[in-house]
Amino acid sequence: MEANQERAAATRAARGTVTRLLFGQLATYAVGAAVRLGVLDRIGTGTCTADEVAADCGTHPQATLRLLRALAALGLLTEPEPGTFEATAAGALLRSDTPDSMSALARIFSDPLMTRARERTEDSVRSGEPAFDAIFGTDFFGHLKNEPELSQVFNTAMGQGTRIAAEDVPAAYDFGRFGTIVDVGGGDGTLLAAILRAHPAPRGMIYDTAEGLAQADARLAAEGVADRVTLEAGDFFTAAPAGGDLYLLKSVIHDWNDDQCAQILRHIRQVIPADGRLLVIEPVLTDTVRPETEPLIYLSDLNMLVNVGGRERTRADFEDLCAKAGFTLTGLTPLPAPDPFVLIEAAPS
Ligand SMILES: C[S@@+](CC[C@H](N)C(=O)[O-])C[C@H]1O[C@@H](n2cnc3c(N)ncnc32)[C@H](O)[C@@H]1O
Repeated sequence: MEANQERAAATRAARGTVTRLLFGQLATYAVGAAVRLGVLDRIGTGTCTADEVAADCGTHPQATLRLLRALAALGLLTEPEPGTFEATAAGALLRSDTPDSMSALARIFSDPLMTRARERTEDSVRSGEPAFDAIFGTDFFGHLKNEPELSQVFNTAMGQGTRIAAEDVPAAYDFGRFGTIVDVGGGDGTLLAAILRAHPAPRGMIYDTAEGLAQADARLAAEGVADRVTLEAGDFFTAAPAGGDLYLLKSVIHDWNDDQCAQILRHIRQVIPADGRLLVIEPVLTDTVRPETEPLIYLSDLNMLVNVGGRERTRADFEDLCAKAGFTLTGLTPLPAPDPFVLIEAAPS
């Protein structure tokens, strides 16, 4: 009898797990809608009724109440008085006007740019190819090239996503011993700025496409390091810029397949001095999935599969990639938990 009850309770819990997963997409869209409609900006640091939000955001009052309740159930708002809502610490991150805002991330993760290929995950699992290319007729970064407004949101979103790593990276590695740090695919410069602020000696360079660099001037100026950084527009499949002694790649290698990564790294190998270093900053997958592993890393891996054709990698994968491009892996330094990133250092072989 007791065993039967335990089995029934376990089945109920298992059903709950599956059901929550099936509703996950609605949570993404609720967050995206709230940000796009300006709901969190309207609520700000105060309390608001659904009617007040609807009046200022130009939305339907009852539908707004339903959205606010869903956001409260998801932990982004509380309802201290019936019908009155207030942002939690997580909800406050979705305002557009705070320094630690994640609103651009919410926009891009709920935008068709990201979601359309995810709808076709099964196609990518069948073929091993990114569904994105078949849907949009071009690859992800090629598409962004033709969409300057979306590209701006993407660059800002990447900067917002990098902010947590940027708090931990500067103290996790001896950046001060390098003369010039080149951030390859460095985007808006959020990470390089944090490193240079913490280490006054090195100079920096961001090497990215013209559209990838579009927000960098403003970010570097806001961080007070613009006079120590040069911006170099280019294509890392064609060449890497000479002049650096540390080449940094954060969240770049996982965007590409092994052959493409080897191509990027070989270009760096051609210009890096003998005593220079490569520093790849990405999560490192364990060989088997452990119960304590953060599922986000594996979901990110699927995101790479469907949207860009890249992947998250194990230590052995990184060793192979380095070897293909003439580098030897010299060290792995994980950032403090829960930050999933690892500093993967390699030297020219
Ligand atoms: C996922 S984002 C990472 C940005 C930044 N490193 C970070 O972690 O926030 C990838 C970056 O690679 C850049 N990129 C893509 N294709 C490139 C290419 N062919 N040459 C140079 N940069 C490229 C993009 O513009 C973008 O800034």
